[in-house]
Amino acid sequence: MDTAVIILAAGKGTRMNSNRPKVLHNVGNFPLIAHCIKTAESIKPHKILTVLGHGRTEIRNVLKSSDNSIKFVIQEAQLGTGHAVSVAMDELADFDGNVIVLYGDTPFLSAETMIRIQTSSSQADLVVLGFHAPDPSGYGRLITNKNELLKIVEHNDANGQELELNLCNSGVMAGSSKVIKKLLKELDRNNKNNELYLTDCVHLAKARGFTCSYLVCDPKEAFGINSLEQLSLAEKTFQETARTEAAENGIHLVAPETAFFSLDTEIGRDTIIEPNVIFGPGVKVGTGCTIKAFSYLEGCKVSDDCSIGPYARLRPGVDLSEGVKIGNFVEIKNSKIAEKSKINHLSYIGDTEIGENSNIGAGTITCNYDGVNKHKTVIGENVFIGSNTMLIAPLTVGNNSMTGSGSVVTKDIPADNLAIARSEQINKNGGAKKLKALLQNKKNKIKS
Ligand code: UD1
Ligand code: CA
Repeated sequence: MDTAVIILAAGKGTRMNSNRPKVLHNVGNFPLIAHCIKTAESIKPHKILTVLGHGRTEIRNVLKSSDNSIKFVIQEAQLGTGHAVSVAMDELADFDGNVIVLYGDTPFLSAETMIRIQTSSSQADLVVLGFHAPDPSGYGRLITNKNELLKIVEHNDANGQELELNLCNSGVMAGSSKVIKKLLKELDRNNKNNELYLTDCVHLAKARGFTCSYLVCDPKEAFGINSLEQLSLAEKTFQETARTEAAENGIHLVAPETAFFSLDTEIGRDTIIEPNVIFGPGVKVGTGCTIKAFSYLEGCKVSDDCSIGPYARLRPGVDLSEGVKIGNFVEIKNSKIAEKSKINHLSYIGDTEIGENSNIGAGTITCNYDGVNKHKTVIGENVFIGSNTMLIAPLTVGNNSMTGSGSVVTKDIPADNLAIARSEQINKNGGAKKLKALLQNKKNKIKS
């Protein structure tokens, strides 16, 4: 049976105390909504509908660039989670399958749990995903009888006895689209928040003789974010999970608590991550690499057996082939570097291509920006760039060529050439002694 996923993301997120729409706050360098979409996509649903309201333009702009298979539905007035789902259901008028509702502020649902929900939704009319909350405050409570779910009571509407329960609603609900459509029509606003609660579908379903069941997941997966404090906690959880997974995948984190990952970070086995390394979005690292301490990587590809850092910065558009070595205080942006080339110390390489086995000396700078436009540098194979060379782009440096240290290179260097572009040195016999005497004289005059 086909499944459609509805993601609710229209709420204002008042408790975040922020101008940014709640679901655009980041965890693991990706907005909360992107985590939900990734989870939704894991079951390859027939359709994904995202309900937007507050901040719809900003959310659309962020999502547009990453994915265009998602359909947006607008909930003009935010009358509650039940109302949000009914707005999405209007778009599913002809759909006859199962529906899974996810909340955009609940980013950690796993693909495995998604599959469990999908399977259960074919076995009961309505299924809710619950969890045993260490601190249940704020969550709706599941009122159950053995395997049966009787109703959900929202925190604000719960009585003393109900507040004692710690089996909570994750916000994930699934069931047949026909049943859900029917139940949504019967919702009312008889509650403390004067909203149309999706959660009321449960007791309405029971009253009409539909079967309601529940599943239980790890509380980490059900963590909902309503405040910036919870956002920080979510980041902590995300990083802890990422570190555990890294270790399970054969990546050695020397000081796990100081390694920071993004949602899309990919690292191969037998790679060593030294302390204080940060992976921004879009990083792929191969196997057998060493990422040395205090390095910062984003939007880059590092092939097998590379060594990066310490204190290296790899910026977007960097593509390193196998066995490349990048040393301390080296910044690289939008550059492709072929096998076994080395940039070991204090350099800036931008908008550049470097062939294999080339050695870029300490303090080399590709001067790619003239203040108005960016220009490209192309360096061939087996090139030796002497220390402190300024390569003024656009520039081509031929295979097997060399530059003298301190050169300011403005013209292309043909293959096999040595380029020296610096003022010539003069040695004056006895000059040092003379100069010292002159300077000492000056000093004495000032004192007297
Ligand atoms: C909700 C559940 C609660 C559950 C908790 C889990 C209801 C009534 N309550 O409470 O049982 O334990 O989530 O985290 O469902 N939204 C809309 N349109 C609206 C209202 C909300 O799209 O009109 C979206 C929000 O953007 C958010 C999600 O629905 O992504 C949940 O809304 P929120 O107000 O955060 O619900 P909670 O109070 O957390
Ligand atoms: Ca919430």
